[in-house]
Amino acid sequence: MKTTNDALSLLIKDHKDVKEMFEQFEGLSDRSKATKKKVADQICQALTVHTQLEEEIFYPAVREAVSDDDLMDEALVEHASAKELIEQIQSMEADDDLYDAKVKVLSEQVEHHVREEEDEMFPKVRKTNLDVSALGEKMMSLKQQLNKL
Ligand SMILES: [Fe+2]
Ligand SMILES: [Fe+2]
Repeated sequence: MKTTNDALSLLIKDHKDVKEMFEQFEGLSDRSKATKKKVADQICQALTVHTQLEEEIFYPAVREAVSDDDLMDEALVEHASAKELIEQIQSMEADDDLYDAKVKVLSEQVEHHVREEEDEMFPKVRKTNLDVSALGEKMMSLKQQLNKL
């Protein structure tokens, strides 16, 4: 039986956590600028760690096991575009023009990206004999390291 710490479960859990944080952000009133900034920065931090786990550990293993370079290339381009928005959001204050819009667009881009991972990439991974438990362990330890920084 698969443990819940396999790579796919770990990534899906991250996706769910980030979705909840975006929902929390959406629910905040315009007057809670400090909380907005705090939640948005938490989202940015979580996404930064998540994309790093994928790019350093998960994606290279998947690229090798699943022969679909186009799919993996697209995912990397989507990460790069998310990173640009993340940097902008981190350098802004919550009452800056376009702050909410940037968080909203980031949430839409992430939602699209997550759907491609969960509906296209992960099913392909499940059909291979990729050792998702070992990958999950590697990812967990990198995640712990990155969250300590
Ligand atoms: Fe991703
Ligand atoms: Fe992901």
